[in-house]
Amino acid sequence: MIRAGVIGWPVAHSLSPRLHGFWLDKYKIHGRYDALPIAPDQFEQSVRTLVEGGIAGFNVTLPYKTRIADMMDEVSPRAQAIGAVNTVVVMENGGLLGDNTDAYGFMQSLNTQVEHWKEDAQTAVIIGAGGAAMAIAYALLEENVPEIKIYNRTPDKAAAIIDQLSPLKTDSKLYAYAFSDLAESIKSTDLLINTTPLGMTGQKPLDLDIGELPSTAIVSDIVYAPRQTALLKSASDLGLRTAEGLPMLIHQAVPGFEYWFNKHPAVEQDVLDYMFGVAAS
Ligand code: ATR
Repeated sequence: MIRAGVIGWPVAHSLSPRLHGFWLDKYKIHGRYDALPIAPDQFEQSVRTLVEGGIAGFNVTLPYKTRIADMMDEVSPRAQAIGAVNTVVVMENGGLLGDNTDAYGFMQSLNTQVEHWKEDAQTAVIIGAGGAAMAIAYALLEENVPEIKIYNRTPDKAAAIIDQLSPLKTDSKLYAYAFSDLAESIKSTDLLINTTPLGMTGQKPLDLDIGELPSTAIVSDIVYAPRQTALLKSASDLGLRTAEGLPMLIHQAVPGFEYWFNKHPAVEQDVLDYMFGVAAS
């Protein structure tokens, strides 16, 4: 029996056990993937106990994505660049390898939902400056998107993302702004990405008029409940191409599943339909 899971505090809300459980059933793998709550005052000891107990590895969610990095023996270049670890593998020698699959998940999600997105993406705008924004900025930079602009309620946090990514060699230009400056730049935005929780069920909608986006623009939202946020609906009504949020969650889980269970799970309609049902319930 191969064991994996997700550590966090709290973690009961995580959709990852359902997702990995779906693939374990589909591929008839003798394994399990559990939600593993770890209290902050017992963090390091609890992680060591999991590893000593023979776990193959685990995902890491809030609030531990940076704290776990100190416990790693090796860190992948992308996790190093992003400054956070969301996937841990127990290596054959017992050491811990930390990876970050969020940038990969975002890019796979965009590639599969909007073909040829890059041809029209001169200027990308990221709204928000948390962990997801950091990973997405890295993903766009890796794709050499010429201009990447980060707009946040707290502009210092947008500037901190640029500082974190500054050691990377890139032709992309990165900029940080206050969210209130976004309205005047909307006309020159080719790819708009919401990484804040605004628009999520129970939250306020994102307060942004996108009516002046170019007709070739693409709008992406990482919020997945509801499936079609008010932002995505406005974009569709304008005839723009859109990328919804749940595929990123599914794609970011692929490398971890493959590391632990030795099987590359396919992101096909079956898992999308299943997870849309889970997210909506
Ligand atoms: P994650 O790590 O999942 O990206 P996060 O770190 O909580 O989540 O980041 C959420 C982002 O959404 C932050 O940039 C946050 O803005 P602040 O940096 O100013 O806190 C932004 N955000 C959350 N609620 C918001 C709101 N009501 N209005 C505007 N921005 C909001």
